[in-house]
Amino acid sequence: MKVTVVGAGAVGATCADNIARKELVRELVLLDIKEGLAEGKAQDMSQTAALLGFDTKIVGCTNDYGKTADSDVVVITSGLPRKPGMTREELIGTNAGIVKGVTENILKNSPNAVIVIISNPMDTMTYLTLTTSGLSKNKIIGMGGILDSARFKYQLSQHLHCNPSDLNAIVIGGHGDTTMIPLIRMATWNSVPVTNFLSSIQQNQIISDTMVGGATLTKLIGTSAWYAPGAAGASLVEAIVRDEKKLFTCCVALDGNYGQSDICLGVPVVVGKDGWEQIVELSLSNEEQELFDKSAAAVRGMNDVLKTL
Ligand code: 2OP
Repeated sequence: MKVTVVGAGAVGATCADNIARKELVRELVLLDIKEGLAEGKAQDMSQTAALLGFDTKIVGCTNDYGKTADSDVVVITSGLPRKPGMTREELIGTNAGIVKGVTENILKNSPNAVIVIISNPMDTMTYLTLTTSGLSKNKIIGMGGILDSARFKYQLSQHLHCNPSDLNAIVIGGHGDTTMIPLIRMATWNSVPVTNFLSSIQQNQIISDTMVGGATLTKLIGTSAWYAPGAAGASLVEAIVRDEKKLFTCCVALDGNYGQSDICLGVPVVVGKDGWEQIVELSLSNEEQELFDKSAAAVRGMNDVLKTL
């Protein structure tokens, strides 16, 4: 198995680091447009192999797509990150051109790859890839829901004083500060509804802190977060290369699912070697469905911007 990560910035490099440490593949390629950046980070990571005990070959390259040939999975992290005060949506003009160009180059060399999109605004970049790449819809997966669900579990664990891994909780909808929907009604702590333990004030706080999870970190750090986004990308790669049939919330093409079509949005899907294999339909309450429809309308508005570029 071979995986390429495009973009050796903080998110791409962290994703690659996690993939290497977990020995998910024999060969990992890290590509960037900035001369020497990917080569340097690949070498730095390779020098941790003897310390951490992994044996993944990591190749860094500057824009040399030949080196990415025959990748089974390609993770696209390229584009500008958010600065404090910026929304993910403001990145659309610049990042659309970058993501489209990267996808074309990738597919010339790896026509059968599953493409994982991390670049922001993630829902629109996933839709752009769906509508311009000619790839089957199952091979295009936006990562956002995995990250947002991990952030949701973190917020829940802070209030419940529990291990986040003991929680089952997902975020559906868009990967935006106002478009994501943490489904607290369905969240459980080892099968017990979390709502049994939390006041409605706490529940509302957890939901709003989850929704602005990325923005909070951008404000603190001065740029977009990378540890959780990188780890979330690597978890998705793991589910694909190990054919795990893992149930994750990912941004995928909807075709009547959850009442929406011609859009990519976060819903629960089963992920395996061919990408996402099945959409799982939850029975949403009227209020949750309304939020989902609102989220879809906002993302559709962003997708329309693509037509003007
Ligand atoms: C975030 O939410 C990078 O979109 C990513 O931190």
